[in-house]
Amino acid sequence: MANVFDCSIVELPRITSESGNLTPIYGGVTLPFDIKRVYYLYDIPGGETRGGHAHRDLYQLIVAASGSFDVLLDDGKNRRVVHLNRPYFGLYLTNMIWRELLNFSSGGICLVLASDVYREDDYYRDYAEFCSVARGEQ
Ligand code: TYD
Repeated sequence: MANVFDCSIVELPRITSESGNLTPIYGGVTLPFDIKRVYYLYDIPGGETRGGHAHRDLYQLIVAASGSFDVLLDDGKNRRVVHLNRPYFGLYLTNMIWRELLNFSSGGICLVLASDVYREDDYYRDYAEFCSVARGEQ
């Protein structure tokens, strides 16, 4: 079963120049999965929390494309908080990790690269149910 320590910060490639920087991300190369979907969270009101779910099978890379936020990771036994604040660092998230995104800075943008299309049946949205499965109780 996945644990929060399997979720690592990945340093992404940077092509820098005096006119600005560029970070390319290649599915299957920069990341250990093919990218089937991209989405981003933006205009998050102060104090809001996003996420609050885990995925059965999905893998993701989460990047603070602008600003900063915290990601709370929970595998049903351990908890860890990761602060993201640079567009060239990503958080690699395995399946079976409960996550909450909080403390968004003003203008913060959370870019997510995902290993699969959107499927609601891939979600655990109930924390107690997730914990019970993650702890092998059902
Ligand atoms: P949700 O996954 O709850 O957002 P958060 O990342 O904050 O937990 O998704 C919010 C809504 O958007 C929900 O109705 C499902 C929908 N949605 C899609 O239609 N496609 C997607 O790729 C995603 C991530 C969400």
